[in-house]
Amino acid sequence: MSDLHVVLGATGAVGSAVVTELHARGHEVRAVSRGAEGLGSLRADITTADGAAAACEGAAVVYQCAQPPYAQWATDFVGLTDTVLTAVEQAGARLVMADNLYMYGPVEGPMTEELPYAAAFPKGRARAQVAEMILSAHREGRVRATLGRASDYFGPGGMNTILGPNIFAAAAAGKTARWVGERDEPHTVAYLPDLAAGLVTLGEDPKADGYAWHLPVGPPVTGDEFLALVWGAAGGRPRSAGIGRAAQRFIGMFNPVVRELGETWYQRDRAWVVDDTAFRAAFGDQRVTPLEQAIAETVAWFKRKG
Ligand SMILES: NC(=O)c1ccc[n+]([C@@H]2O[C@H](COP(=O)([O-])OP(=O)(O)OC[C@H]3O[C@@H](n4cnc5c(N)ncnc54)[C@H](OP(=O)(O)O)[C@@H]3O)[C@@H](O)[C@H]2O)c1
Repeated sequence: MSDLHVVLGATGAVGSAVVTELHARGHEVRAVSRGAEGLGSLRADITTADGAAAACEGAAVVYQCAQPPYAQWATDFVGLTDTVLTAVEQAGARLVMADNLYMYGPVEGPMTEELPYAAAFPKGRARAQVAEMILSAHREGRVRATLGRASDYFGPGGMNTILGPNIFAAAAAGKTARWVGERDEPHTVAYLPDLAAGLVTLGEDPKADGYAWHLPVGPPVTGDEFLALVWGAAGGRPRSAGIGRAAQRFIGMFNPVVRELGETWYQRDRAWVVDDTAFRAAFGDQRVTPLEQAIAETVAWFKRKG
């Protein structure tokens, strides 16, 4: 039987952390993206049927860590998922989707997997549709599939995230580190190696199939606490600030990336807390890197990178 674990989007932040975790656990790995290079890599465009089929051929497990550009989620994520589902079905593989929390929309209290998909904005509706497609393909017996969900990530390689350039790159360069949103609200953050370990645990255990899981995380942290730990690791004179709603609106007038944050501001102006109880109950107690260590490793990576 195949032990080939295929990672789609293997050059991205989540995908490359999954590749590292799979190697550490001794699996055979195929790392796929359009720009992939090196041993065990395959260049393929998974938006095409042929590219997705070549990527998934012979796989035991496929980790879906690829994504369209953020501004194109509403138009492109569903089609990408459809193509990947067909390829996974043809390969007879299991599917593990690297998922986020957008489908829930605004929430009150800690998030569990029981929440309805109540997002009413385009990107949230697209992510809800993607999750529903995957779970219904599982129910219909087309594929065996599971989803692992995480909040904002940070870590080595974590550039394409709200915490990367605004906080880690800035602090590593001695510039002002900016927390986006209210700095005194509890917020769950995910360390990339822990997020990847959770996804690989789902990939190794078929009892995950048919469900979405909140991946294991540490306790939530406030923006001020997070920034203090970053400066503790970065050294130098701490310079921290927040980007509140008014600043987001103003900067968003001429910066499209910042403008996009408006529709998910509910994730930033109140408590945003992930409950991972179900995962721990199903798969046993999980290793989660202490926040101070995770931040120190991330600062070191950003400093090395310059
Ligand atoms: N940002 C967060 O804080 C966060 C938190 C939780 C979950 N997530 C989710 O985790 C998933 C992965 O996110 P990420 O930030 O790791 O993504 P990322 O860094 O943007 O990487 C995307 C990857 O997909 C590949 N890709 C894109 N289009 C492709 C195509 N047509 N064919 C083949 N490969 C393609 C890219 O490589 P090439 O360009 O070389 O093809 C790259 O390897 C997303 O669904 C995201 O929403 C993100």
